[in-house]
Amino acid sequence: MNYRHGYHAGNFADVVKHIALIAILAHLKKKEAPFAVIDTHGGRGSYDLSGEQARKTGEAANGIGRLAKLNGDLPPALAAYIECVGQQDGKSGDAYPGSPLIAARLMRPQDRLIAIEKHPEEAVLLQDALALWRKASVEIADGYARMPKLLPPPERRGLVLIDPPFEAVDEFEQLAAALRAAYRRFATGIYLVWYPVKTQSAADGFIGEALTTGAPALTIEIGIDAPQGKLARSGLLVLNPPFGFVDDMRAVLARLEPALATQTKLEIRA
Ligand SMILES: C[S@@+](CC[C@H](N)C(=O)[O-])C[C@H]1O[C@@H](n2cnc3c(N)ncnc32)[C@H](O)[C@@H]1O
Repeated sequence: MNYRHGYHAGNFADVVKHIALIAILAHLKKKEAPFAVIDTHGGRGSYDLSGEQARKTGEAANGIGRLAKLNGDLPPALAAYIECVGQQDGKSGDAYPGSPLIAARLMRPQDRLIAIEKHPEEAVLLQDALALWRKASVEIADGYARMPKLLPPPERRGLVLIDPPFEAVDEFEQLAAALRAAYRRFATGIYLVWYPVKTQSAADGFIGEALTTGAPALTIEIGIDAPQGKLARSGLLVLNPPFGFVDDMRAVLARLEPALATQTKLEIRA
């Protein structure tokens, strides 16, 4: 477990993933009924973009750093993202929120977040980042092993975010198996899954496996001009996308592409 998200926080992949997260939360909030967010690979919750790890890769400059130039009317999910990530937590540095902190900031008192993080040092930092939120809890555990035990959530509505580090050679296989098992337990849940596109065939193989769930699905892929040897393309798979999410994200991608990407592709898969 060498992966540390601090090297990648705020990069192009984070930008699209966190905007999609915010768009889904906005749809869940349209009904008064409470919902649960289960974030299986939570990370540390808050990242200092002026810190050593972020400075070493400079990835945030090609991600959140590209959005400073956006002006005019922005699609609601993009405007909400810029507003949410701009909130500072009073600590030193230039703080960028991870997915659990974004969810915690946007949840209502009746909603609940369970964030799982396997790395003990990252998990302690995550507990610290979420300390203000009574309805947010952190589990130091394996996200794949814990996920089925948390499903279905008592609220019977919610989002499962799966954002693995892709360090293991068989991560796509583990992910597909975990996703299928989770879907069998909670078929009405919304699933947001991040994946790298190192080769299109590996990514497509994973999507094919995920589609065997039979769930309505869409994918969003984004490519950037990355330095040699760095990840240049990443994707999101959404199962059971809420009504209106496709239009939200089309509007977001139309503004993001000229600012950030060489190509974006949204495909309805099932
Ligand atoms: C890509 S990062 C998560 C970033 C976070 N979701 C965000 O958007 O801010 C992946 C995280 O998963 C953690 N991790 C690795 N293996 C794990 C596992 N089996 N279960 C839970 N967490 C794991 C890593 O320590 C790392 O912090």
